[in-house]
Amino acid sequence: MSVLIKGGRVITAADDYVGDVYVEDERISLIGESLDAQADRTIDAAGKYLLPGCVDPHTHLDMPFGGTVTADDFESGQTSAAFGGTTCHVDFCIQSKGQSFAEALEQWHAKREGKSLIDNGFHLAVTDLREGGSLEELARVPDDGVTSYKLFMAYKGALMVDDETLFKTMQVASETGALVLVHAENGDAIDVLVKAALAEGKTQPHFHALTRPPETEGEATNRAIQLARVADANLYVVHVSCKEAIDPIAIAREKGWKTWGETCTQYFFIDYSFLERPGFEGAKYVYTPPPRAKENQDHLWKAVRSDVLSVISTDHCAFNWQGQKTMGEDDFSKIPNGGPGIENRLHMIHEFGVRTGRLTLNRMVELLATNPAKLFGLYPRKGTIAVGSDADLVIFDPEKRLTLSAETHHSKADYNLFEGTEVRGAPEIVLLRGQVLVENDRLVARPGVGQFVKRARFGEQLGQPAGVG
Ligand code: URP
Ligand code: ZN
Ligand code: ZN
Repeated sequence: MSVLIKGGRVITAADDYVGDVYVEDERISLIGESLDAQADRTIDAAGKYLLPGCVDPHTHLDMPFGGTVTADDFESGQTSAAFGGTTCHVDFCIQSKGQSFAEALEQWHAKREGKSLIDNGFHLAVTDLREGGSLEELARVPDDGVTSYKLFMAYKGALMVDDETLFKTMQVASETGALVLVHAENGDAIDVLVKAALAEGKTQPHFHALTRPPETEGEATNRAIQLARVADANLYVVHVSCKEAIDPIAIAREKGWKTWGETCTQYFFIDYSFLERPGFEGAKYVYTPPPRAKENQDHLWKAVRSDVLSVISTDHCAFNWQGQKTMGEDDFSKIPNGGPGIENRLHMIHEFGVRTGRLTLNRMVELLATNPAKLFGLYPRKGTIAVGSDADLVIFDPEKRLTLSAETHHSKADYNLFEGTEVRGAPEIVLLRGQVLVENDRLVARPGVGQFVKRARFGEQLGQPAGVG
């Protein structure tokens, strides 16, 4: 199958030009001006942007969490991603207590089998080094293309690890070339604050934020940075939400320590006041770290502009408001933590980042596609438009108007974090390895087209010249 895409405005992290892109055997084989090539299909992209398929490095599909299971499995979650221009994601495989890493990975591979619409990799979330996987087994995991370990410094009694497990995992990562991801919040202090609030009868959703103050995120972020230095590991701090966590990352990066950070779409738009919405509506915004005071949003825009934060992900972890979020009607600590968002990252960042002049188109591509691909061992196969790269492409209509809503989104979640937001600019055609996934608001591909992607080790990718891998 060959495809010729003609006359689009090709935008990568570095380039911006009008050209033709020729796709053969799932990859881009030719880029040029007025290409005269025969193709099975020719797409006229005049007046449209041609973007690399976006890469979302932080998603939770088909995940048991908080006494329930996320509303989106791989089929619905990846369908939703495809409509939003995301063609590859890295999901979290969570080790259960007592489970070996091989068992955990087998379980997560089974979840995507026959359901996949886009490509994906896995991070391995380490929860138990005592009775579950051993350090030796952990060291072998990157051999199978799972080249990042995740540790939760919060969720005491569930996913949280102690500093011993955190540090030992960092030491293994330093040897294996895996990247260490941390959910940085002080879970012990938060646990004390949650119990005290509940004892005082403070049960409403906004206490989710009041019991997780920004200092607990700042402290854990700094602790992770310092421990990673001792272990000589590469560190990536997920879902940074506030100045208290941005500041230690800024210092680390200025000093040249091996630290990177991401934030997520929702932190730019949803603030603490959303949690106070009446009628239990605040529960829709119970995710972790929580929505912060509004002034943090300016700090986040500045951080993504200056590369203190290098990635915008979604942390898509969808639960229905009715039936799932309501599990915490009488106790905010029982509201499953997470929100939907996999579909709307490009819409929102284009509208409020690029169209407002906060970000250039190149920087948007870098934050949503190129940097995640580079940091997670997918580049240059993913994350750019280059000869030899996978033909994961988004033909983006900068004039298309859309109102974001649960009525029209493709996630199974019964609400949308950005309900009613009007945007100008949306994907028109989305291709995965040259195959059309979405066209004219219709899903064209069938489940099964997505592939598991083995990712390269961290040190083997970053900063190296682009080759075809
Ligand atoms: O609330 C969130 N973020 N849920 C997903 C799990 C996590 O902490 O990333
Ligand atoms: Zn987290
Ligand atoms: Zn997450």
